[in-house]
Formats: sequence, C-alpha cells, structure tokens
Amino acid sequence: MNITLTRPGLDELIKGIGTIVERGLEPRDTAFAVADLLRAGLPGLDILTDEERAGSADTYRSFPLHAQEEFSVVAVVWHPGQETRIHDHVSWCTFGILSGVEHETLYRDMGDHLVEIGRAANLPGEVSGFAPPGDIHKVQNTSAEIGVSLHVYGADVAKLGSSVRRYYDLPVR
Ligand SMILES: [Fe+2]
Repeated sequence: MNITLTRPGLDELIKGIGTIVERGLEPRDTAFAVADLLRAGLPGLDILTDEERAGSADTYRSFPLHAQEEFSVVAVVWHPGQETRIHDHVSWCTFGILSGVEHETLYRDMGDHLVEIGRAANLPGEVSGFAPPGDIHKVQNTSAEIGVSLHVYGADVAKLGSSVRRYYDLPVR
C-alpha cells in the first residue's frame, strides 16, 4: 500500500520560497522576503500529523518537511518549557509561530563568555527573519501549551544534518 502524506499549504510555500530564492538577493533580504511570504499565508497546524504535533516529553522535536540545495522547511514542536541549547546558524532563517510562544534570547560572543543582548517573545501568527552573523540565540516555548513553529533555512538541512553552525557552552555573564 502506498500512502502519500498531504501537508496542506506546503507545496505553495515551497513554490513561493523557490521564486524568492531565485532572485539571488542578499541573505538578509531573502529572509525578509520569505517573512513577507509567510506572513501573507502562514500554514495551519494541519501541516503536521496528529502524532507529529504531539511532540515528545523528552525534548523538542524537529520535522524536516522539505530540503533542497537552496533552502529547507522544518517544523519544530515544543512542549511547555522545552528549549534549545545556545547556537547560531549556517544561513539566513525565517520562522513563523503556529501555536505557543517561542521566546528567544539573543547573545553576543565575547570570546570567553557570552552576554545577553536581547529578548523577544514570538506569538502565534508572528513571523521574523534574520541572517548571520549576530544570530547567537536560545529558543524556548514559554507558553503552557504545545508550541509549533515553522522554520525556513537557506541551506540543505538534509545534506548538512542540521542548520546549526555552532553550539555555545560558554558562561553567560
Ligand atoms: Fe535557532
């Protein structure tokens, strides 16, 4: 038996991102253009299956929905309180919140330690885009419900294994 999984909104999204990426803009401008695209039509929670949307009590979970040479689309599911390690990325990134609150803490690398330089709470329906450098951050679902977000990276996560450039274990002062 052959079952094809339909993910409502994904094909249109991939087509739209492809058109933007083809323009060959600067990474930051690409991230902003993809943010405009996501803002205009953020897919619903039904882009994931019920099982995927349930996440895991052990850790947040990532679901690569699409990957090609120029970009990847990844859904992330977070239980309340679950968070990433401090990290940065190999490419531009644009993300939109479908549910929960994705709370971001930003850091600057001082060589032997990090300093916190900002915080942002991203609510359902909100979309942001950024490009390295200066994207050292940690993300946590600070809401009481399961968080779901959609991330677009300007890299092939299937080939690289992840969009992370580096993890930071330096002390925060
Ligand atoms: Fe990140």
